[in-house]
Amino acid sequence: MPPFSAIPPSSPFAHMHIGPYLLANNLFVAPMAGVTDRPFRMLCKQLGAGYAVSEMVTSRKDLWKTLKTSRRADHTGESGPIAVQIAGTDAAMMAEAAVYNIERGAQIIDINMGCPAKKVCNKWAGSALMQDEPLALSIVEAVVAAALPHGVPVTLKMRTGWCQQHKNAVNLARAAESAGVQMLTVHGRTREQGYKGVAEYDTIAAVKQAVKVPVVANGDIDSPEKAQEVLRLTGADALMVGRAAQGRPWIFREIAHYLATGEHLAAPLVGEVRRLLLAHLDEHYALYGEYTGVRTARKHIAWYLRSMPGGEVFRDHMNSLQDSASQQRAVAHFLDDLAQRHERLPQVKTDSLPLLESIA
Ligand SMILES: Cc1cc2nc3c(=O)[nH]c(=O)nc-3n(C[C@H](O)[C@H](O)[C@H](O)COP(=O)(O)O)c2cc1C
Repeated sequence: MPPFSAIPPSSPFAHMHIGPYLLANNLFVAPMAGVTDRPFRMLCKQLGAGYAVSEMVTSRKDLWKTLKTSRRADHTGESGPIAVQIAGTDAAMMAEAAVYNIERGAQIIDINMGCPAKKVCNKWAGSALMQDEPLALSIVEAVVAAALPHGVPVTLKMRTGWCQQHKNAVNLARAAESAGVQMLTVHGRTREQGYKGVAEYDTIAAVKQAVKVPVVANGDIDSPEKAQEVLRLTGADALMVGRAAQGRPWIFREIAHYLATGEHLAAPLVGEVRRLLLAHLDEHYALYGEYTGVRTARKHIAWYLRSMPGGEVFRDHMNSLQDSASQQRAVAHFLDDLAQRHERLPQVKTDSLPLLESIA
């Protein structure tokens, strides 16, 4: 399938670069650990995402050779630019992690200050860094210095701040820009909020006003209308979608179409969803192998089917299947059955984004 780009070249919402890389469009799939692996990123790109960042890779050297990290660092067959997100709390280790990933094909390095990442070296990484601006800045400077000789741009993903009383995104954004960061993504929640409450866009708008580098708005974008509203409220250069893309990778072409035309794209044909999901599963099993593949595919299947009639009941059955052949057969059967009753995917509920408290 050719890359999808519904945004007219004349649109101000087109032609965005990160360093030397021209992006297909300005709709990004958010990095989500355990979700945006290579098969899912490739699917999102195929269905209209102009850019995808990998799941975060730890800066802990002792973990680089683990199966989990090597899978995350595998970009075989992925269309560029290849962006790898790194997480950690030590400037020198982060610089080393940047170089390690550049040597393995990363064309862009993204620093994670946006996700409540796990403890690295007894300190909380990710958005927890926003609490310690000098440390955050020293990491940014070290990573930029390490990536510069390779001609690799560095980007930063953060939240609005540490907590309601300490929203320091604007300060950090200015400092990061001065240190050489070439794009900033802001999730409109504080670290303290986790995934609770609603994202606010005023702080993202303030960041956009404060810097010259492109700013990406993120948080709670779950429909074409919401995408348009967030663009209007923030003046951002690009939008990033996370949870709403889980089980709905075609959301990118739906948003792109709406932004370009003001009209809604028809829901996908059930037959197309069947084809996409089965192909996704093939790629998934190929990356993870039979045992892990079957188990980690369950959440993706559940996301695809969660809003379909009969999806809940099917999920319980599907979770009991232990091998890839029966898992795929069951999915095919479920969608064949649905296709008897619906030509297109029945309207998706957009009122509830999944809350994954385990990562918050
Ligand atoms: C399961 C899951 C894993 C995530 N992993 C990461 C990560 O590895 N790096 C990161 O910067 N953000 C991570 N995030 C945060 C998302 O990138 C995004 O900022 C957040 O979900 C808000 O966007 P949304 O409302 O569109 O989901 C994760 C979110 C979820 C739900």
